[in-house]
Amino acid sequence: MSDAIFDKSWQRTKLCGEFTEDDAGKEVRANGWVRARRDLGGIIFVEVWDYTGPIQVVFNPEAGEIHELAGNLRSEYSIAVKGKMRIRPEGTANPALKTGNIEIVASDFLVLAKADTLPFEVGDATDSVDENLRLTYRYLDMRREKMQKNLRTRAKINSFTRRYLENNRFVELETPMLTKATPEGARDYLVPSRINPGSFYALPQSPQLFKQILMISGFDRYYQIARCFRDEDLRADRQPEFTQIDLEMSYIVEEDIMNLIEGYMQGLFKEILDVEIAAPFMRMNYWDAMDKYGSDKPDLRVSLELCDLAEAFKNSGFEPFKEILEKGGVVRGLVLPNGAELSRKELMDLEARAKKMGASGLANFQFKDGELRGPLKKFMSDDELAKLCEISGLKDGGALFLVSDKSRTKACTILGTLRLELGKSRGYFTDKDENGKPIWKFLWVTRFPMFEWSEEEKRWVAMHHPFTSPVLEDLDLLETDPERALARAYDCVLNGNEVGGGSIRIHDPEVQARVFKCLGITPEDAKRRFGFFLRALSFGTPPHGGLALGVDRLVMLLCGGSSIRDVMAFPKTQRAQCLLSQAPDAVEQARLDELKLRVVADDED
Ligand code: AMO
Repeated sequence: MSDAIFDKSWQRTKLCGEFTEDDAGKEVRANGWVRARRDLGGIIFVEVWDYTGPIQVVFNPEAGEIHELAGNLRSEYSIAVKGKMRIRPEGTANPALKTGNIEIVASDFLVLAKADTLPFEVGDATDSVDENLRLTYRYLDMRREKMQKNLRTRAKINSFTRRYLENNRFVELETPMLTKATPEGARDYLVPSRINPGSFYALPQSPQLFKQILMISGFDRYYQIARCFRDEDLRADRQPEFTQIDLEMSYIVEEDIMNLIEGYMQGLFKEILDVEIAAPFMRMNYWDAMDKYGSDKPDLRVSLELCDLAEAFKNSGFEPFKEILEKGGVVRGLVLPNGAELSRKELMDLEARAKKMGASGLANFQFKDGELRGPLKKFMSDDELAKLCEISGLKDGGALFLVSDKSRTKACTILGTLRLELGKSRGYFTDKDENGKPIWKFLWVTRFPMFEWSEEEKRWVAMHHPFTSPVLEDLDLLETDPERALARAYDCVLNGNEVGGGSIRIHDPEVQARVFKCLGITPEDAKRRFGFFLRALSFGTPPHGGLALGVDRLVMLLCGGSSIRDVMAFPKTQRAQCLLSQAPDAVEQARLDELKLRVVADDED
């Protein structure tokens, strides 16, 4: 037995989790990994596992040498087992397992490969292991039910995506990985060219320009499950290398993309979760979303809303707010209906939190036992206080938080963050329906501003990307008041996550030139960076638009997770490292020489 080799005679008759009571009495073979070995009164029990689940194998002392050798089996050894399937003896069934009623009584086995001492126990408990250790031994981490389920769900989603889009006459085309920079707002990953020393390719932040060129080329409806690369600060929902369902259509308007994606989501949720999604999704303008929820990706599962308190303060005795309002700033509020019970310490912690986000302060009122309290009360007349309660809806038992700032976006965003945190911690968050099933709140956020101010670059940058069309009524604002110009852009938001974004594009070279001008991109600069694209644009470009869905985020939500790393086979850490392969890594001098590159030490810059 120990010298046997793996041949047909050892090959599994079924996958471990697919044996059933119908196999009882049959000679069977199983292949898989050793899990959970237990010795009970001389009998050895082993679970043999593959992605379909475990099957129990019993080694009886009567089996002689086989039984003795089974004593050497260790976790994660790869083995092949032969034996007779039987119904488990009365009282030993395990109802938690699909195969809990049956077991193989081993007549022979083969160790296919031993496993070293494990860095962690492989199984459900692996979730609590340090993530860096899991990523270093990713193959062991993936050798368990949860990761198998996540990644197989991902594959199903890709498969559904292809079917859905192809049924809608989309054609799958590939665009280059070694390419020129496309501005999506992040830094590029650069690849030096050996044949053209001193020149670099950029890995695509998205296939944006190529997919637009495909519309100019007559493909009409394109899609790609595309890998994208962005050198940006990472979070639980961002990776340097991620996947988009990228698509583009000709001769369309916003509604066409929205209808397409709503149909896609309905089909996807039905297929993966057997859940009915209602369509059309709610549509909301960017500024309405900011004013009401303090976010351009509002989580509608939180029931709190923001309010505009300008009316209550514009003539008030509280000078700082009055002044801000006179200068065009805002005073915004958030009501927490059970906030009267918050302690002084809790209020101070909330203010510290708001200040950390850049607020100059977080004023508050508490309405307790019929009386309004708060540091600003003494500056306001009874009428103004009544107005404040009327506008905000503050009632007995509640608290009102106020942020004033010259920037509407900043005041709203700070309150929007508190809205989420307080909503979740204070009972205004409903994520399950009456049957205990997850709630799915989709919406479209539309009409984003064309431009936003970049503090880092000290200039206006495109909020979506520079190829997004302004809304037609705002074309003239490009020259007169670009800050107010709105874009034909739309984001698909699910439970507070931006799962996709897109826009109707500019198809008129003249409008494109005007947008570049707003962005401070000179015609020479535009020619150098996007000349190839602008030239293409001048050859009869059809009106077109598209969108990209973030596959990783979508899979994460469908799997009920909170980190996209758990739905990627080989993700990177927050420091953009692959702990498994140890990338990025230094390279030999000879490689740098042929690329004509020199690494500058820190103290040399
Ligand atoms: P955008 O930049 O909005 O649009 O990206 C589309 C979607 O991709 C996902 N996403 C990410 N997922 C994981 N890690 C990241 N670092 C990351 N960055 C983005 C998000 C996002 O909604 N070319 C345009 C699309 C278009 O206009 O058609 C684009 O890339 O879910």
